[in-house]
Amino acid sequence: MEFITKSAFETKSLGKEVASKLEGGEVFALSGELGSGKTTFVQGFAEGLGVKGRIISPTFILMRKYGVGDKDFYHIDLYRLEENIENEVIHLGISDIWKRPENVVIIEWAEKIKEMIPESAKWIKFENLGGENRKIIIQ
Ligand SMILES: Nc1ncnc2c1ncn2[C@@H]1O[C@H](COP(=O)(O)OP(=O)(O)OP(=O)(O)O)[C@@H](O)[C@H]1O
Ligand SMILES: [Mg+2]
Repeated sequence: MEFITKSAFETKSLGKEVASKLEGGEVFALSGELGSGKTTFVQGFAEGLGVKGRIISPTFILMRKYGVGDKDFYHIDLYRLEENIENEVIHLGISDIWKRPENVVIIEWAEKIKEMIPESAKWIKFENLGGENRKIIIQ
């Protein structure tokens, strides 16, 4: 499905709506250029899951884990990884995270490890259309 959002607020609302339809164990693979709205979407998504507190971009820390009820929500951002990305992801234990069916996982810059993303993951593509307009395609 394709959406055009006209503000960060609308992108957050879309994230919130997607989170409200989860059954557990989903993996979302987010792709799209810098500033296209991925983290903004994740903020709404986390709110929809019931995560308390602010979601910051994990760009400088690679991964954050949030407990929601009896589940864990992982926000991963691969932006900073530049070399041997697939090996890094394995050695840092990141790829184990989406193998556990009880985890809800969102991965920013998932296109960097396209081959490693599970078949069952849902891809969400972000595109900056200029100004505050963003195109968001949910697989
Ligand atoms: N329609 C919109 N949807 C999302 N963000 C928007 C929109 N309009 C303007 N913005 C602004 O664009 C920026 C999007 O930044 P965000 O951190 O979400 O992007 P990102 O894709 O995660 O970038 P990065 O690749 O650096 O992690 C924010 O400053 C946000 O306020
Ligand atoms: Mg981001």
